[in-house]
Amino acid sequence: MSPDMTAPGMTGTATAPVLELRDVTKTYPSTPPVTALRGVSLTVRQGELVAIVGPSGSGKTTLLHLMGTLDRPTTGRVLLTGLDASAMTDRQVARLRATRIGFVFQQFFLAEHATVLDNVADGLLYAGTPYRQRRELAAEALSSVGLGERLHARPTQLSGGQRQRVAIARALIGRPAIVLADEPTGNLDHATGQSILALLHALHDRGTTILVITHDREIAAHLPRQVDMLDGRIVADTAKPDTVSPAAAASPATAVSPAAAASPATAVSPAAAASPATAASPATAARRG
Ligand SMILES: Nc1ncnc2c1ncn2[C@@H]1O[C@H](COP(=O)(O)OP(=O)(O)O)[C@@H](O)[C@H]1O
Ligand SMILES: [Mg+2]
Repeated sequence: MSPDMTAPGMTGTATAPVLELRDVTKTYPSTPPVTALRGVSLTVRQGELVAIVGPSGSGKTTLLHLMGTLDRPTTGRVLLTGLDASAMTDRQVARLRATRIGFVFQQFFLAEHATVLDNVADGLLYAGTPYRQRRELAAEALSSVGLGERLHARPTQLSGGQRQRVAIARALIGRPAIVLADEPTGNLDHATGQSILALLHALHDRGTTILVITHDREIAAHLPRQVDMLDGRIVADTAKPDTVSPAAAASPATAVSPAAAASPATAVSPAAAASPATAASPATAARRG
């Protein structure tokens, strides 16, 4: 077992599972129906930093929505900190989500009219924390992502990278069991994306459990564990060497040039990214798919 499987201070001991998917499938009832996941089983343990990597359409976002309890599987089970979301009512699931999961999205989903401090403090709205304490914790979370000096700025006054830091602070404020990030660098230029990845690494070093979804093999290659998806299935997982095909094991994404890695998604400007859906909460926004 690799040291990455264990939380700091627990070297050599497998930590508790934070997230477990058991033979999960998802078929969207569209016309015609689309089967996006075809039997996915995955365990993420406390303290891990995991990349889910795969091409567009392989089922990554669907998987994130199921892991985050924003949607329910067609068959199979999703457990968070050992609690089976499939056996819960919508209300219980919402509570589980609010207390266990932090979300980070490619499009940031910040409320543009609110200050940075309020955006982050709102991450605790559903936890029942009093207003004053929410703001204190928000200021702390913002300091931890390097934005302690910008508490009263509005998102429109920030760069794309700073906006994503605000979103990360919002995800962290409730001390979730796991942070789920869907293409967190997808709207950022290469250098800014690297600084966001460095921040995620630093948070991981401090013990935060993080799962990053990306289509970018170069990003995935720098994370301690990589899970490869294709056509709704896991086709390789570096935590389970027997699932890694010899070809995949021999070429850890080195074929991707920095130029290719820096290109497609980065053409979206922060302004475009900041547009219509910005008033939506992360949870509603995620449902857009
Ligand atoms: N709401 C939906 N209704 C119907 N099909 C969907 C829906 N969301 C995603 N899909 C389909 O499911 C498959 C996986 O999509 P997605 O999970 O978004 O993959 P990825 O994030 O890897 O690009 C694709 O074929 C996509 O078109
Ligand atoms: Mg996606």
